[in-house]
Amino acid sequence: TYVIAQPCVDIKDKACVDECPVDCIYEGPRKMYINPEECVDCGACEPVCPVEAIYFEDDVPGEWSAFRVAETEFFAELGSPGGASGHGPVDEDHPVVAGQPVSTG
Ligand code: F3S
Ligand code: F3S
Repeated sequence: TYVIAQPCVDIKDKACVDECPVDCIYEGPRKMYINPEECVDCGACEPVCPVEAIYFEDDVPGEWSAFRVAETEFFAELGSPGGASGHGPVDEDHPVVAGQPVSTG
């Protein structure tokens, strides 16, 4: 699967969502999340993210390894709803994301 790491937090450009053929990129309040059960590893999302937040799971930079875990845990609760647009936004972020500092810039 692919993972959305720290750069997406509070950006949520969503260019990735338009590229995904299986609609498996779900929305949290501060970040988007790729469903590991539904992602077919097509990789179309990765190059279109303007802040380079998306990585193949084995290529997530070490400093962001917590985001790889967060993606898995986020869907441990949510399961596999079978489509992000049908499901709609999720009310709560994973604690790793919720705990990220808010930019005041
Ligand atoms: Fe986030 Fe990049 Fe997608 S900022 S919403 S991962 S295009
Ligand atoms: Fe979709 Fe990206 Fe996976 S485009 S299928 S989330 S690799």
